[in-house]
Amino acid sequence: MDDGESMRYERARICIDFGTALSKASICLDPLMPLDVGVKPLPIGAIARAEHPLLTPSVLYVDQGRLYFGPAALEHARRGVDSARDPLLSFKTVLGATDPNAALAQKLRPSMDPTGTFTARDALVLYLAYLDQLIREAIDLAPNIPNIAANARRRYTSPVWRPGSGVDKTFEAIFDEAAAVSQRLGRLFIAPEGISIAQCKDALDRAAAQPGNGMMETGVFEPHAAAATALAFTNAPTRYVLVFDMGAGTVDMAAFEFDETTDPPALSEIKEARQCSALAGDEIDRILAELYMRKRGGEKSREDELKLKRTIVLAARDLKRELFTTGKCSLKTGWMATTVRANELMEDPNFRTYLTALRETIAASLHRVIVRAEQQNADVVDVVLAGGGSRLPFMVDLVKSAGAMRPTRVALRIGPLSPSNSLYSSVDASLRDAFPQISMSVGGALVEMMPAA
Ligand SMILES: Nc1ncnc2c1ncn2[C@@H]1O[C@H](COP(=O)(O)OP(=O)(O)OP(=O)(O)O)[C@@H](O)[C@H]1O
Ligand SMILES: [Mg+2]
Repeated sequence: MDDGESMRYERARICIDFGTALSKASICLDPLMPLDVGVKPLPIGAIARAEHPLLTPSVLYVDQGRLYFGPAALEHARRGVDSARDPLLSFKTVLGATDPNAALAQKLRPSMDPTGTFTARDALVLYLAYLDQLIREAIDLAPNIPNIAANARRRYTSPVWRPGSGVDKTFEAIFDEAAAVSQRLGRLFIAPEGISIAQCKDALDRAAAQPGNGMMETGVFEPHAAAATALAFTNAPTRYVLVFDMGAGTVDMAAFEFDETTDPPALSEIKEARQCSALAGDEIDRILAELYMRKRGGEKSREDELKLKRTIVLAARDLKRELFTTGKCSLKTGWMATTVRANELMEDPNFRTYLTALRETIAASLHRVIVRAEQQNADVVDVVLAGGGSRLPFMVDLVKSAGAMRPTRVALRIGPLSPSNSLYSSVDASLRDAFPQISMSVGGALVEMMPAA
């Protein structure tokens, strides 16, 4: 490549969002380019052979001396329900821990790694190396992204954003080691056969002794990234935006005031509205799994009971999606098929308690933004639904009813984050339906760095 080309992409950056359930990645080739050519979600799900081309499951699984990643890990986990094994399903607990360094140093639970080889930090390094390989392969195959962009700086979205806390240094080191591991093990990460524990351990040790360059630039606060996407893609910008991101592990809410009088336009946070709660997708899965168990009836032996629970927990996400798209869901465990209908869930006391708690949480953030809007004589607040939870059919009504808890003349405009910008009128359906989920990585790649608080 000539210098002209490398110069051309020196402003490029890739943002990864490793969510509790699904990982996403997007690239911004140049923030000065028009959106439709400058910012692209990367099809890492397609490379990983996942269900959706833009989403890959955030899973790592240790089985019979080998490590599996993404969809292959999920498959092994499903087969492993007999052997009292759990897949490693979440990194967010590590990222969000009060003392991330202590959380990182911990060994994985024996149900996740029976060999006792890996710490949470090792798992994170390996998983990031896996993502790095997916990203490189996706860029390599993308006709409209130059290969040189694979070496762009990296960002990650984070539910907690503590500038100057020292956490960035920790993650920088992790990215550097992941870069070395990615280079050493290369395309082995993408092969369905997994990688031997010995090879992984060896790569980790070498990377610790001689880290690579992970090109880590910064963490981006997730709701800030979502708000940036909402503003970039909207046709009718409002001054006040409340982002409601319901993922699998957490619901994150944050509000922003948008000031177009400065250049670049400033997005400043209305800090009083910030909240993080665990009333997210996994909580609905738990409630649904319990309801399913009650309807089905338990097993006689404790061992069979645990096996049944594992099977249901692993199936819960799919069951929930089926229930909310078709009105019912059904699963055969043992010789028995049990069906749960949407109205049974909606009337379930646990689910109603959940909805009440969620409504109150939403109301608390919403009212703080509305008060600010009233003070500034603004007449509309945008409530942007992001994350997989935005697909839940009751969500818009829930936000509406949270808003109705306190009378105001400020109107609420509620809807899922969508690429409504006319530039994107030609986007394909797979981008459109996953847009609320990929918007954190899109915005994280797009947004200029947040001024240090
Ligand atoms: N069609 C659907 N109907 C209902 N729920 C859905 C649907 N599609 C996805 N979800 C749920 O959305 C969640 C995943 O969303 P998302 O990708 O935003 O989460 P995440 O980023 O991995 O999690 P987090 O942000 O909490 O770390 C899961 O709980 C999943 O079950
Ligand atoms: Mg998320």
